[in-house]
Amino acid sequence: MPGPGNSLRAAALLAFVVLSILVSLLISSVQQFGARLSHFSNATVAGDEEAASLRRALNYQLNERRKEILPLLLPADDDDEDDDDDEHGQSGGARHASRLDSTLDSNLWNEITHGSEKTHMDEMGCDSLVDMQAVEVLGSGYTKLVVKVNLAKGQPVALKLVNEQGIDMGKCLEDFKDPEGCRELVSYKLKKEIVLLQRLQHPNVIKLKGHCAADAGGHGTKGGEGGRIAVILEQGNPLQMIQLLQSPWEDRFRVCLDLVRLLHFLSQSPLGSVALLDFQPRQFVTVSGELKLTDLDDASAEETTCRTDADCTLQFPHRNFTLPCTAQGVCGGLNEKMNIYNAYRYFFTYLLPHQAPPGLTHLVDHIMNSTGELKADINQTLDAFEHILLLYKSGLHLDNLPPSIIRDYTMMRGMGTSGNVEYRCWPSYSQQGCVLSVHSPREAAYICNSHPQCNSFTLNGQKTWTGRLLASFRSSFSHLVPDGTSEVYVKKTKAPETSAV
Ligand SMILES: Nc1ncnc2c1ncn2[C@@H]1O[C@H](COP(=O)(O)OP(=O)(O)OP(=O)(O)O)[C@@H](O)[C@H]1O
Ligand SMILES: *[C@@H]1O[C@H](CO)[C@@H](O)[C@H](O)[C@H]1NC(C)=O
Ligand SMILES: *[C@@H]1O[C@H](CO)[C@@H](O)[C@H](O)[C@H]1NC(C)=O
Ligand SMILES: *[C@@H]1O[C@H](CO)[C@@H](O)[C@H](O)[C@H]1NC(C)=O
Ligand SMILES: *[C@@H]1O[C@H](CO)[C@@H](O)[C@H](O)[C@H]1NC(C)=O
Repeated sequence: MPGPGNSLRAAALLAFVVLSILVSLLISSVQQFGARLSHFSNATVAGDEEAASLRRALNYQLNERRKEILPLLLPADDDDEDDDDDEHGQSGGARHASRLDSTLDSNLWNEITHGSEKTHMDEMGCDSLVDMQAVEVLGSGYTKLVVKVNLAKGQPVALKLVNEQGIDMGKCLEDFKDPEGCRELVSYKLKKEIVLLQRLQHPNVIKLKGHCAADAGGHGTKGGEGGRIAVILEQGNPLQMIQLLQSPWEDRFRVCLDLVRLLHFLSQSPLGSVALLDFQPRQFVTVSGELKLTDLDDASAEETTCRTDADCTLQFPHRNFTLPCTAQGVCGGLNEKMNIYNAYRYFFTYLLPHQAPPGLTHLVDHIMNSTGELKADINQTLDAFEHILLLYKSGLHLDNLPPSIIRDYTMMRGMGTSGNVEYRCWPSYSQQGCVLSVHSPREAAYICNSHPQCNSFTLNGQKTWTGRLLASFRSSFSHLVPDGTSEVYVKKTKAPETSAV
């Protein structure tokens, strides 16, 4: 159990982390921030009345944020519009409000605002932050700052904090001129995220390791609220679209498949059908190549109520869709469809078609069309992706490769090469030479035949995430060297006019 001393120490450390990072990285914003404050201090002299009215407006905002979180704390009871209508016909918000005081998970709420105890799924508390080391900033956005941290035992984690220099904080200060109150207001987004991370656990959602709500300075602010909040997360790498665009199709397909698995889960989550309102690549990170959603504060399980189909339009910059208004008076599948179209426009169009394996292009084209036109629901979309994965793993899409092609090569087992003359190909797994994934030696032979520079290739037993083999292609080598697990294939003839078949 963490003692109060440890919590205070963690609070001081948190404050220090925030300060040292901001001072070094954001000096210019700090100066603007200062200018705004001095302007403000002049304004308050003008009248206490104005200050009081600002405080009232801020309190209203704080209350609104709180109300947004409370429904999420209700015991697992889904909002699912189709199969859960027996006990409540009202739409989400109103129904929840009436049950808030009696049934909300007050333990969780206390836990988040006071932060001393731990729940079973959320192991780490303030005590685990004692003696942590901040390594670097992983990212920042409108609301949050994410810092790469090593905990005392050397364990790497990501720490999410309020971004004191973010747009959210800046806007709030401009409106309300109250740094403490604004920190509390912005903290609600972190609190909401903690609740959502606990409720929406999935392999493609970032893992919540714990959180710390430390009272800055150790004063008992009312109810422990307004203290600093830090969310302790599994560490990932921010998704780099530019880098992904240059990666092999297999890796790009993986990101899209992971995204579809996530959306399938979100469409029937414990909270109901969840829409990601701010759907951008920057809301995701990868952990060992696996895609994970990290920004959940804009997730919503609200259903849109309607009277006619016209109330159910989904508007995007280049496309509008109209969905059916169901007999229950909600737009059927609106959240699910919104997610699918966003996946199409932010991910699939960039990552999926380009360089898809020839045997799979018709299936990829079909996915592009059915998601781009919202003709398929998430179940059908997931089925289509899993089907592609199955074909790709099993090599069934390669059926039309001539089996005899491998006879053009002499195979030497237990051998590697040295003195290689490499050539580059694209998109290669290695910067130095040409390394591609293949299903079998036969596919590697087919690829080698199609590269004019290629005269031999090696399979060394390394595999990609799908289990395909990594093959290194090269122009020539000077000698063979013993290498236990590796196989070298050398072209029997170099004459280009010799038939490959
Ligand atoms: N667990 C993590 N590991 C590594 N990087 C992360 C992690 N979580 C978030 N990041 C990075 O930090 C950035 C900011 O986090 P987040 O998106 O939660 O903040 P935000 O203020 O809500 O951002 P936005 O303005 O985009 O909504 C992310 O874009 C991501 O690149
Ligand atoms: C503060 O107010 C005074 C008089 O109301 C004004 O002359 C002065 O310019 C103001 N200062 C700032 C920084 O706004
Ligand atoms: C989508 O609908 C909006 C509002 O009705 C309209 O202004 C816009 O032109 C439509 N866009 C497209 C691409 O049809
Ligand atoms: C889907 O296919 C139809 C028919 O070929 C075509 O008109 C439409 O533009 C395609 N839509 C997308 C999003 O690719
Ligand atoms: C989608 O699949 C889930 C199971 O994975 C099932 O419960 C649900 O009813 C399916 N939805 C539709 C519209 O087929």
